[in-house]
Amino acid sequence: MTLDFGTTLGGAWFPTPIFTASGCASSGKELSQFFPLREIGAVVTKSIMLKPRAGRPTPRMAETPSGMLNSIGLQGPGIDAFLIEDIPWLASQGARIIVSIAGETAEEYAVLSRKLRGVSGISALEVNISCPNVENRGLVFACDPTSASEVIKSVRSIIGGDLPILAKLTPDVTNIVNIATAVMTSGADGLALINTVLGMVINTETMRPHLGGITGGLSGPAIRPIAVRAIYQVRQALPNVSILGMGGVTSGKDALELILAGASGVSIGTASFGDPSAVIRIQRELHQILQDKGFNSVREAVGHAHRD
Ligand SMILES: Cc1cc2nc3c(=O)[nH]c(=O)nc-3n(C[C@H](O)[C@H](O)[C@H](O)COP(=O)(O)O)c2cc1C
Repeated sequence: MTLDFGTTLGGAWFPTPIFTASGCASSGKELSQFFPLREIGAVVTKSIMLKPRAGRPTPRMAETPSGMLNSIGLQGPGIDAFLIEDIPWLASQGARIIVSIAGETAEEYAVLSRKLRGVSGISALEVNISCPNVENRGLVFACDPTSASEVIKSVRSIIGGDLPILAKLTPDVTNIVNIATAVMTSGADGLALINTVLGMVINTETMRPHLGGITGGLSGPAIRPIAVRAIYQVRQALPNVSILGMGGVTSGKDALELILAGASGVSIGTASFGDPSAVIRIQRELHQILQDKGFNSVREAVGHAHRD
């Protein structure tokens, strides 16, 4: 019996359950030297904002045990250049595209949605709400159910039924199920879990914060148990919600762990920095391990850890 390796997220079908993670492969150009982008589930692009942005002060990276701390910020060309350059290039590669958007106000997300509505070649939107809301004392949208809902409602009202919307949440909350419920009842079709975990490193030589941005986002294997926990909790509370999982996946076995917790797809982020072929290797390993365990499809494995 051949394995059915396809998966659906928020109603969109993908031929494989392995994706890039936003911000870790830019728009895919570098990775395309290592494998054809059309062979993976989809490329999730770096969160795009309305205007070009320079990102945060240097240094922007610190190595940590089993992880990486970054304070790159949402550096990028802005939506207009992205639509002219990146989308057509990705489409020319035959890649499926999930566009990640980010804003500082609910209105900015609305404007981005207006610009993306009707653009062909996009499979879904990932709405990164793990950013500070300048209209609410810089409180991260995804830390507050009301602000999180407001963004998803405004994106939904503009996108209509054209594209699936995945809301990307931060694990830096007391109760992630509350936020997940809020965005799902506001029109999201699925969730992306998890963004980086807020952390900090102090340089003991200079005795000052190491990163120019003071705090940064922790990623890599150090956060995998947090991702597994968040996915498991959300799946338990909202069993029908589709989840794109990410956080510290470096092998097919790690990807399987997130799938067993409840993810229908898995994004690979930090692993690609050390090994640009990681995404395709992990995809191969996952295919093999699902077969070895006797699954007939990815669908059968999703949420398996919840079964008696
Ligand atoms: C350098 C870097 C940049 C990132 N940029 C974004 C981004 O633009 N938008 C976003 O939603 N997540 C961003 N992330 C978070 C990743 O998409 C992912 O959620 C997180 O790193 C956990 O996965 P990983 O451990 O496999 O890296 C970034 C992560 C890193 C390490």
